[in-house]
Amino acid sequence: MKTLVAYYSESGNTKKRAKAIYEGMTAADKEVGMIADVNPIEYDIVFIGFPVQSSSVPGKVEKFIKSIPEGKMVAFFVTHGSLRGGQLAISALYYAFSLAQKMTVLGTFGCRGQVKESIIESLLDKPEHKAWAMEAQSAVGHPDDADFEDGKNFANLMIAKARNL
Ligand SMILES: Cc1cc2nc3c(=O)[nH]c(=O)nc-3n(C[C@H](O)[C@H](O)[C@H](O)COP(=O)(O)O)c2cc1C
Repeated sequence: MKTLVAYYSESGNTKKRAKAIYEGMTAADKEVGMIADVNPIEYDIVFIGFPVQSSSVPGKVEKFIKSIPEGKMVAFFVTHGSLRGGQLAISALYYAFSLAQKMTVLGTFGCRGQVKESIIESLLDKPEHKAWAMEAQSAVGHPDDADFEDGKNFANLMIAKARNL
């Protein structure tokens, strides 16, 4: 099955995860690239990686998801400053799901991604950003080797699932 790892990344966290997922993936026919440079139409499975922004999906990623033809298999992976498994990041994944209603969503995966201290400081006094910015103070060093390992396992699980569909 042809597999694409497409990502959007501003400060590099999601890009690093995308590369690790791509390298660790058992699929023989695979490709990785930024969402602006890839064409999802050519693939059977599309992994879509993005940073959670304002508890949602970045606009360019929303557009990319909407461009994927009906019936494709997709899997989402995100990086976020807030705590792993927390509600603040989950809301972005719910939104991504709502954009992919005519596709088969194989699964989702999240890990933390550090945020520059200067950005956190500038957002702490903005009510709409305060909650995640407070949590993001402890995301230093992420994504780390354990996150990369988890990401590879996630990707291979999704591929195994796709083969059994
Ligand atoms: C403008 C902005 C908004 C963000 N909003 C959120 C958010 O709502 N929730 C969250 O958990 N992290 C948030 N983050 C943190 C990013 O999701 C996190 O640092 C991510 O790993 C960045 O990925 P990238 O390096 O691939 O761009 C935000 C970061 C920025 C710069």
